[in-house]
Amino acid sequence: MEPVDLIIFGASGDLSARKLFPALFHLDDAGLLPKDLRIAAVARDDISCDAFLAGLRERMGNNMGSAAPNEQQWQAFSKRFTYISACFDQVGDYARLKAWLDDERVSLFYLATPPSLFAVICEHLNTGQCLTGDCRIVLEKPIGESLSSSHQVNTTLARYFDESSIYRIDHYLGKETVQNLLVLRFGNRFINSQWDHSCVDHVQITVGETVGIEGRWSYYDNVGQLRDMVQNHLMQLLCLVAMEPPNSLEADSIRDEKVKIVKALRRIDTASVAEHVVRGQYSRGWSNGNAVPGYLEEEGCVQTNSDTETFVAIKAHVDNWRWAGVPFYLRTGKRMAEKVTEIIIQYKELPHNIFGGGANIPNRLIIRLQPNEGIEMTMVSKRQSLKDKLSLQTHTLNLDFREGADSDRIPDAYERLFLDAINGDQSLFVGREEIEESWRWCDGLLAACADQGVTVKPYHAGSWGPAKAEILIEKDGRSWHV
Ligand code: BG6
Repeated sequence: MEPVDLIIFGASGDLSARKLFPALFHLDDAGLLPKDLRIAAVARDDISCDAFLAGLRERMGNNMGSAAPNEQQWQAFSKRFTYISACFDQVGDYARLKAWLDDERVSLFYLATPPSLFAVICEHLNTGQCLTGDCRIVLEKPIGESLSSSHQVNTTLARYFDESSIYRIDHYLGKETVQNLLVLRFGNRFINSQWDHSCVDHVQITVGETVGIEGRWSYYDNVGQLRDMVQNHLMQLLCLVAMEPPNSLEADSIRDEKVKIVKALRRIDTASVAEHVVRGQYSRGWSNGNAVPGYLEEEGCVQTNSDTETFVAIKAHVDNWRWAGVPFYLRTGKRMAEKVTEIIIQYKELPHNIFGGGANIPNRLIIRLQPNEGIEMTMVSKRQSLKDKLSLQTHTLNLDFREGADSDRIPDAYERLFLDAINGDQSLFVGREEIEESWRWCDGLLAACADQGVTVKPYHAGSWGPAKAEILIEKDGRSWHV
């Protein structure tokens, strides 16, 4: 493998200290980073490398607690670093980076910056002659805030990088359990053969968060939960659940199948939106035993009549052969009762109940992505008893993913994603078409909400969202799993 250099723009930002550098440290400590990988930390502050590293160590210490590097680990890790001070919008500053880059090595540019800087950084990398060797670029979401803005970002990127060199992150794809979905579906014959409209009644995907907007009012109020979570994370989960088996694990093979699902998603228009979408916004309530403010009382709130949703529930349909007639209920919100990400595959009742009574209990597969990562399958069995000849009960088969793992620590999504980007494997990164098709669907839904005046319904922090979200599913004779 060719030697790789990692260049992180936004190295002094919050994401870098919370996620990126801790992930790199864990990889280094586990001996998984190439020995000769060099890291250039690029940020605005005009400081020395020693000063940057001292600040980074302190911030990593605050974020990582007892997992923070000890002296020996830190010495080994920090040797990889160079600090380059640059104002990202000053082309002259890129000369320092150019002087450090080596055309004999792969340059992996990681933009941990606000998206508004993506275009200018690409342009200056080009003008500053930093793109002369073998280069890859890694970007954080959001890639745009609508179809047209994501198209614009992608078009700018395409001017300087081939699609095969662009690594768009959706950190959900780096989660161990999300990758496990592929293995569960395509590595187990009995599961895959029962995975369609003839056996499945409906699918639920819930991503509940207990946190609020965490001081990000100015960002969040412009996007809301649909753009922040559904367009990317829930869409990726839906694709992995619904897609056909890819021919191989090559990036293009997987992406092709995912794009087909996004394109098959039934458009939610003005005529159907009121029946299919519920928007909510949290009011004050309780989170983990603490009183918490409502969305409109959050720090930084400048628009006290904001209609931005912090919760959304959607009844979606994938209009293809496999999923005809099977609703996909999607739900995500901030300040929910629990932090939980789970996918429920609810099977149909048996066609004929030979046991009588209320024994026709359909199977249910629960895929727990976080926390308590694992799978549960509810099964019906006979209660052991001489008195009641055929008294049935529901049992749960429980598979805990943590059993048999390499270590007790579940690797953070960024560890997998860094490793793959370094190794040039794009299969867990999102392709241009997936993103743009997903925006097309979300834009339509948002426009329909605006046309029909689907306003936000209040819900108490610490609950499972507005009552209308219960009605959305209950009117179909079903209920949310949690
Ligand atoms: C981010 C969103 O992409 O994902 C945040 O911007 C959200 O608003 C976060 O809180 C959730 O990620 P996780 O890994 O904690 O489920």
